[in-house]
Amino acid sequence: MDLQGKTILTGVKPTGTLHIGNYVGAIRPAIELGHHVSQTGRHIMFVADYHAINAIKDAVLLKRLRKEIACVYLACGLDPNQSIFYMQSDVPELFEMTTILMAYTPKGFMNKAHAYKAAVDKNHIKGEPADSGINMGLYTYPVLMASDILSYDTDLVPVGKDQIQHVEIAADIAGSINALYQKEVLKIPSYFVQEASQTLPGIDGQKMSKSYNNVIPLFGTDAEIKKAVMSIKTDCQDINAPKNPEEILLYHIIRGIAPDTVVQEVKEGLEKGGMGYGTIKKMLLASILQEVSEKREKYNNYMAHFDDVQDMLNEGAKKARAIARPVLERTKDAVFAR
Ligand code: TRP
Repeated sequence: MDLQGKTILTGVKPTGTLHIGNYVGAIRPAIELGHHVSQTGRHIMFVADYHAINAIKDAVLLKRLRKEIACVYLACGLDPNQSIFYMQSDVPELFEMTTILMAYTPKGFMNKAHAYKAAVDKNHIKGEPADSGINMGLYTYPVLMASDILSYDTDLVPVGKDQIQHVEIAADIAGSINALYQKEVLKIPSYFVQEASQTLPGIDGQKMSKSYNNVIPLFGTDAEIKKAVMSIKTDCQDINAPKNPEEILLYHIIRGIAPDTVVQEVKEGLEKGGMGYGTIKKMLLASILQEVSEKREKYNNYMAHFDDVQDMLNEGAKKARAIARPVLERTKDAVFAR
């Protein structure tokens, strides 16, 4: 895909402590994309904290999650001089834009949005009234997300499959505003699926997810990471039996995180037979520690000196507002014929 000169925007919700699966599937690719895009275009990355309050009402928990996610991205190499990096809630222009967009968003769009439908389905299964526990923030989630996207004249949004619909809604809303006022008031965004070039299964073989309790923590202590690695499920085939690596969970995990040379060595060891699971786990552990140790130190440092991170986020918000303000004014000019 040609990213030359494009504006690319990514939002991350601070909803849980991060694991190696998040790192491989989302964090690392987003940061690599940032380095690439910022050479010629504009890379925008933000923490979607207003989206998070729809689900998280524990303020102290949310405080911790907001802090953690900002420090994780910085520690993993997001460069705030290259990428515009901020907290969503520090950009008030988004909320003026949201109010405008609301007026052009058919209610039916919201009824069809996945997040809302999933919540209704859950209620149905529990035998509760359809809208039980559903707040307007969740219901109108796609409008705030459209505002996130449209406020910066975004060209492209890298998404996982679950977010495609949201970008389509944003494009639809922008399209109807442009059609009504017969000019390009808002830029129509597209998405591209950055479908985890790599996905990591969890230590039990299901998708790695906090809710399955099968994660390898990203910035855990050595002991915590070791404990998770040593509990990766294995079978009881003879150590000397030749094996098909594709059928071995450990191999899938190691392939996502270890350097190619290590992956190759394990592949051959399994195919020939003779390489034990214990040995492979030690190699995996070493690879993980090699990948994360330095980043973990940076992370701990950022967490301990959050004032510095706050300064970076404030700077980021300033840059974001400087882009969002003229887009908002242009939109107000159109809708009020100012
Ligand atoms: N909805 C996204 C998620 O759940 C987060 C998000 C909010 C976002 N606003 C966005 C992503 C704008 C891309 C663009 O992960």
